[in-house]
Order: sequence, then C-alpha cells, then structure tokens
Amino acid sequence: MSLPRDKLSPMSLTSAPLQQPEERDQTRQHTAPVILDGLAIAAEIKVEVAAEIQSLAKRNVRPGLAVILVGSVAASEIYVRSKVKTCGELGIFSELITPPESVTTDELLAMVASLNARDEIDGILIQLPLPAHVDTRRLLEAVDPDKDVDGFHPVNVGRLQSGQPGLQPCTPAGVMEMLRRRNLSVTGRNAVVLGRSDIVGKPMAMLLLNASATVTICHSKTADLASVTRGADILVAAIGRPGYVTEDMVRPGAILIDVGINRVTDERTMQEFFPADAARAAIFAKRGSVVVGDIHPAAFATSAAYTPVPGGVGAMTIAMLMSNTVKAAKLRRLAPKGDLQRV
Ligand code: GUN
Repeated sequence: MSLPRDKLSPMSLTSAPLQQPEERDQTRQHTAPVILDGLAIAAEIKVEVAAEIQSLAKRNVRPGLAVILVGSVAASEIYVRSKVKTCGELGIFSELITPPESVTTDELLAMVASLNARDEIDGILIQLPLPAHVDTRRLLEAVDPDKDVDGFHPVNVGRLQSGQPGLQPCTPAGVMEMLRRRNLSVTGRNAVVLGRSDIVGKPMAMLLLNASATVTICHSKTADLASVTRGADILVAAIGRPGYVTEDMVRPGAILIDVGINRVTDERTMQEFFPADAARAAIFAKRGSVVVGDIHPAAFATSAAYTPVPGGVGAMTIAMLMSNTVKAAKLRRLAPKGDLQRV
C-alpha cells in the first residue's frame, strides 16, 4: 500500500499545477518548471520584517546587529556590506567591527564578550571563514546563544535537532521559507540533501526532517550517488562544485534547490554551462566571470520547480538574517522565557 502524500498546491502561482513525480505521465508534454524567485520572496520577507520593526519601535525596541569581519576577503566584504546596508533599509541598528587579519583568538573573544554584554545588540554575526590561526569553534561557542543569529552555537544546533524553537541557520531556513511560501509541501516526500556542512547540509536535513520529509543526506563519497539523487522528490544541492548535479542525476518532476554559488572564470566552461545564452555571455564579457550553481542548468528543464542561480537561495540568506535579528530581539527583550506567541 502506498502512503498518502501531500498534494503540491502552488495556489499563488500562475503557472500550471505541479505534478507529483509518480503521477507524471511520460507521454504527456512536461509543463514549464516554476521558477522559485528568491529575490521576490526575500522582498516579501523584508516588507514583513520592516513592519515588525516599526511595531517594535512603538515599544521602544530597536533590533541591533553586530557584524565582525576579520581581514579583507573580497567575497566576505561584499556579503557583509550587503548585510549592513539591508539593516539600514529595514531600520535595524548595525555595527560593523573590522579587526585586521592579524587579530588573535583572545582579542576576538574579548570583542564577543563585550557584544554579549550590550543590551542594544540582539544579534552577533562573525563572518566566516576566519583566518587559519583563529580558533573558529571557540569563537562561535563564545557567542551568547540568544544572540546567535547564524544559529551556529551548539545550543541552537541542539534546539534544532530536538525540534525546539530557536535561532536557525539563515540559508537552510531560507530554503524552507521558499518552499512554504510557494505552497510546496515537504510532508512525506523524499528529500535528498547533497552536502554535509554544518552551515547548510546538516541543518537543512534537520529542518526537512522536522517538516516530516523522509530525508537522505549524501555527499561526494556516497556510493552510486546518482541512484540516491534520482530518488529525490526534493533535491537540495549544497556541495560547492559547479554544475555537479547533472540531468541524469535527477528525476523529472523533482523540485531542485540549488544552494551553490560558484564563480566560473573559464570561457569554455561558461559556454558548456550556458550554450547560446547571450545574456550570460554579455555578463562574462563585462566581468570576466559568471556564477553557476551546484546543479547543471540543463537539469532544470524537466523539474517541477527550481531555484535559479543567481536570484534563488542566495537572495534569501540576508532576508533570513534580518528576520532572525528581529526574532532574537523579541525573544530576549520581550519574551525572555522564549514564548514568542505572547509577544
Ligand atoms: N560565510 C558564508 N556564509 C555565511 C553565513 O551564513 N554566516 C556567516 N557568519 N558567515 C558566512
């Protein structure tokens, strides 16, 4: 007897209804996949977060986020600039601390201790990666779990694992939000997470499990990886390798979530990923690179829905950080017993 499965019900979408993979009729023409537009969903979240910030202002609460950015890693600088800018747009107080590359673990621990003690700081984010000489684990564990807007502290990892409310890592939380807001139910579905990082893969798997998916975590050493990924109704790729998931590794009608952001600087590789794509070629000519996800773009064509790169999951991370900062402010300042329902 087959188990009943939730129907996909993309009610808010104008495109044709999604089909359950097992209901797909191979002889019928495949309907165009739904593009899960991270920019649009992030914009929806930011509007809601801004409204919450306005209502908190009436109670004399202004959420505050401190960001520690060590040294000068170009990609980190771009991300952090964007995080601080978004704080300003939504009305979150922000403070950027930029110690030099030579900073010691003890000096960083002292900075974290001082931020932990300041009432106007609700969230503390230490931009990763840190220089090799810094003890990253010790530093992440020094952040007050109630200010841990990255959800990396072992207390928050434990809360997620035991299904308790808490602060959850922004990228996987963003994926869940995309699925939820586009009415893509995960209950009872086979979800495969490709990648086992502490930042994305592991928390992603736990969030899907908590939402009643049947979850498999796999990685680059998984035997016969394609046979595992082909079983996915929902495939989340977070392995950090450009175009790693190819067409033959996915089931037509699956939902494809691409967390990868990989920069391709070789023109032939760019053309292999994006043949006859004038827009991409123009970007490459201008910048000398294009961005590609962990899923080969050709694999999207037969999917039920997919997140594009760029403009998919990546666009969600900052919106979720803003949301976590407001949640941390409410939990710590208005609901110290952790009961957000009463705020
Ligand atoms: N570096 C890349 N992604 C992240 C993230 O989500 N949080 C932090 N702190 N650093 C990162």
